[in-house]
Amino acid sequence: MYPKTLKHPAMAPSYEKIAQMSALPLWEILGDVVGDEPVPMGTPHIWPYAAMRDVLLDAGQRISAAEAERRVLALKNPALERPGISQTLFAGLQLVLPGEVAPSHRHSAGALRFVLESTGGYSAVEGERCVMRRGDLITTPSWTWHDHENTGTGPLIWLDGLDVPMVNFFGARFGEELGQEQQPILRPDDASVSRWASGMRPHDQHHEQPWSPILSYPYERSRAALFAAAAGATPNPQHGFKMTYSNPMDGGHILPTIAAFLQHLPAGFESAAWRSSEATVFVAVEGEGTAQIGDSQISFGESDIFVAPNWSVIRLQARRDLVLFSFSDRAAQQRLGFWREDTALSD
Ligand SMILES: [Fe+2]
Repeated sequence: MYPKTLKHPAMAPSYEKIAQMSALPLWEILGDVVGDEPVPMGTPHIWPYAAMRDVLLDAGQRISAAEAERRVLALKNPALERPGISQTLFAGLQLVLPGEVAPSHRHSAGALRFVLESTGGYSAVEGERCVMRRGDLITTPSWTWHDHENTGTGPLIWLDGLDVPMVNFFGARFGEELGQEQQPILRPDDASVSRWASGMRPHDQHHEQPWSPILSYPYERSRAALFAAAAGATPNPQHGFKMTYSNPMDGGHILPTIAAFLQHLPAGFESAAWRSSEATVFVAVEGEGTAQIGDSQISFGESDIFVAPNWSVIRLQARRDLVLFSFSDRAAQQRLGFWREDTALSD
């Protein structure tokens, strides 16, 4: 706890007594408590999709979705003790096989799902089925019932992103099972898209919760919006063409804790360096490229997942036309007022 070289050695004889009183001399450790700038927590890392998929499908042969409750391979940051992909985010790859249902439950942790492989299926959220196609983003806000079903002929696999480490940090972990496999369906499939995602909102409906009323952001629409915005535009030096999935009520993020983004980097694009106080999880939807994150050089292709810890310097390069999905803890940091980005880094 104390530095090797004490700043105030004359006080050293008192330190044992201070420790016995469960106190600390802040004058010795001030830099560890407040500090001038963040230290990245965790390490950059990549989880290649093909290898992860093999292990997941093997688990599918041995454990049913009902037995597992959730058949998920959690992506653990190698430099962190707890099962998070970053200090603040949990990520996992989830598999539901044809005919299987992952039974209904709810928890205080909020979640998003980014679909990587589907021949048919849906995530039911709070009385509504959200159809799952590759590239679709589906949210499961805090304390909403959710179950998942594969109605296709092949594996249904998606990337889970949750704010579990944040919820656990606050000691606010609650959860319960519904006690039946599937929740009652109250509205047409993808009703939240037709009701809230047209640029209009229902005159007689209110939405007071701190998350987007849109539960599904279909890839076809998101991709079209991204490429329409990119057409004829100049790419941002750090981010290329980048769109934020937004809450139509206030233009904010989709969840109070987690922000999500879709970006396009044209083949050959090399980004300028930047860093921000958020930890970000990336997955390539289309194309391939490289990421320089801190001292790590990462090559990635379609469906590979990689993480950039907070305040690590990032450079992205597109080998082929890239579409990258990402999510981060920016939503929580901005709500709490301490999110920062630094784009004034020299290459
Ligand atoms: Fe869940």
